[in-house]
Amino acid sequence: MTKFKIELDKKKCIGCGACTAVCPDYFDMDEDGKAKVKKQLISDIGCSKQAEDTCPVNAISVTEQ
Ligand code: F3S
Repeated sequence: MTKFKIELDKKKCIGCGACTAVCPDYFDMDEDGKAKVKKQLISDIGCSKQAEDTCPVNAISVTEQ
């Protein structure tokens, strides 16, 4: 049962790594030096909102489905 969707705008991401620091469960760094979402559809919002709030360029959005 999915309740939330994590979206990441790679064009905005500057690769600061804050999302992976606050939320390693759902974010990882990709080979291109930018973040990647490990799991896009989640049932537990967990730390994803903190990552959304922490990203300095607002590249992350977490929406309820
Ligand atoms: Fe990129 Fe924002 Fe994460 S700049 S590395 S999506 S905190």
